[in-house]
Amino acid sequence: MRILLTGATGQVGSALYRPLSAVGNVLSVDRHVLDLSRPDTIAIVLDRLRPDLIVNPAAYTAVDLAEDERDIAFRVNGEAPGTMARWAAAHDVPLVHFSTDYLFDGSGNVPWLEESQPAPLSVYGASKFAGEQAIRDANGRHLIVRTSWVYAAQGRNFLRTIARLALQQRELRVVTDQRGAPTSARIIADAVVRILQQELAGDLFQDRGGAINLTASGVTSWYGFAIAIIDGMKQRGASLAVENVRPIATSDYPTKAVRPLNSRLDQRRLRELFKIQMPFWQEALEVELNTHFWVSRSETH
Ligand SMILES: NC(=O)c1ccc[n+]([C@@H]2O[C@H](COP(=O)([O-])OP(=O)(O)OC[C@H]3O[C@@H](n4cnc5c(N)ncnc54)[C@H](OP(=O)(O)O)[C@@H]3O)[C@@H](O)[C@H]2O)c1
Repeated sequence: MRILLTGATGQVGSALYRPLSAVGNVLSVDRHVLDLSRPDTIAIVLDRLRPDLIVNPAAYTAVDLAEDERDIAFRVNGEAPGTMARWAAAHDVPLVHFSTDYLFDGSGNVPWLEESQPAPLSVYGASKFAGEQAIRDANGRHLIVRTSWVYAAQGRNFLRTIARLALQQRELRVVTDQRGAPTSARIIADAVVRILQQELAGDLFQDRGGAINLTASGVTSWYGFAIAIIDGMKQRGASLAVENVRPIATSDYPTKAVRPLNSRLDQRRLRELFKIQMPFWQEALEVELNTHFWVSRSETH
């Protein structure tokens, strides 16, 4: 099986590469091969590469910048997945796509279900919703993996930002009224590969397709996540500058894009359909902290 994997340089794309190789031959492509900001070129590239399965974690993920770059965000996150999905449907090729908790308006405190009504607060969220709709409209076999608060020991993410700041600053201020599940790219990749392995026995996503929530188990705030990162670094002998972490409200930390307060995604469908119980966010964090990623960073910077 030839698997086309996009977003080779991203958190989820790079985490997927190795586990996906257990499922088939992975053709990992970056924007130089497949540029999602040019949806008109996608079918030509897919005709040439002829994948049997497409896995598409590539996305425009600069949430605040998207407020000023609406056109490109919609091209990459909305139009490009639609073009990919139409090509996939026409060639009966299954598509795995990734989506986000930012589809929702963050109201209430009950976890969002797959069938909950999206009402994005940001351009990024709206562009991801457009991508989901375009994939559904294409009517091919697909799985849309909705995840949240993604991090890894590499890349640009909250884990690495907090680690860097904790090494440099005495005080940090971190938002405490947004609730969700920090989810490592590693556990996303592992779960997606487990799903694919189950589905390979039959027609991929013929019966168990559509959207699926897939995040770490448990819930916390960005503040709770920051405290866990800092504690974990201390336990591993990091010599930190930080002495005080102050919980603040979202309203005390204005950003260009509005984020949902309630980002929780209900995991029942994942458990019932695929019998997958995701690790708790604390366990997944331990795995990334065990890489001591900050050591090489402080040596080289
Ligand atoms: N990050 C999160 O907290 C989060 C939360 C929920 C859902 N998600 C979703 O999960 C998926 C994976 O996210 P991630 O965190 O792995 O993202 P990421 O680390 O920001 O990686 C994004 C990837 O997309 C590629 N890309 C961007 N523009 C492109 C273009 N025009 N053509 C081709 N490739 C392009 C990037 O390539 P370059 O390196 O060349 O820019 C990079 O490889 C995305 O669908 C995202 O929307 C993410």
